[in-house]
Amino acid sequence: MSLPTVDLAESADRLIRGRRAIRAFRPDEVPDGTIRAVFELAGHAPSNSNTQPWHVEVVSGAARDRLADALVTAHAEGRTSVDFPYRDGLFQGALQSRRADFGARLYATLGIARDETDLLEGYNTKSLRFYGAPHVAMLFAPNNTEARIAADMGIYAQTLMLAMTAHGIASCPQALLSFYADTVRAELGVEDRKLLMGISFGYADDTAAVNSVRIPRADLSETTRFHR
Ligand SMILES: Cc1cc2nc3c(=O)[nH]c(=O)nc-3n(C[C@H](O)[C@H](O)[C@H](O)COP(=O)(O)O)c2cc1C
Repeated sequence: MSLPTVDLAESADRLIRGRRAIRAFRPDEVPDGTIRAVFELAGHAPSNSNTQPWHVEVVSGAARDRLADALVTAHAEGRTSVDFPYRDGLFQGALQSRRADFGARLYATLGIARDETDLLEGYNTKSLRFYGAPHVAMLFAPNNTEARIAADMGIYAQTLMLAMTAHGIASCPQALLSFYADTVRAELGVEDRKLLMGISFGYADDTAAVNSVRIPRADLSETTRFHR
């Protein structure tokens, strides 16, 4: 394969900018062959010493529906279980500002005010049902995961989502799903691994207002310095 560099650059631009977090899906499934091709491609992600620490459970069909029901029940019963603890104040300074800006844009698009708890709760339920996506991939990390292994997991996740984008498949990475780690492990029969995130995927519902949200990025000068 020898694409001229310029074609690859243009394709990369479209691919990377074309991937967005999608929060409303059509119900039709992605063909099995396409799913397998995408996950095989994602496996070419780089990792520390080629350790490939990711373990992925891809869930579709009746198993997907059972998992969604179990998550909604766990949420209703307050049964959260988190392998990688989250604490208030984790995001400081510019990170907190960007987070607040993201939240404002998303909720404005949804037409939900922060104090509309019923609507927010309904939205949580949609999230736990994978925003209607017919498939979800649960990304498990080894039990002894620390930051260096988590970096490999993140690289894998983005490689996977870009591979999906290239095949016309929309995705949403969901940390929320990792707040019910015991439920996910029990449903999928996974032992001795930690749940980092879920990635819901399928075909985007282009008629849904929520999918029109655009989340901007910081200026290059805010994040990157060049030395010579
Ligand atoms: C590790 C990770 C966890 C995320 N968790 C959630 C989540 O639980 N729910 C959600 O709707 N979006 C989630 N997102 C999506 C982000 O909000 C989104 O990527 C970000 O706002 C940038 O928007 P974009 O992906 O559309 O460019 C997550 C993204 C990442 C990378």
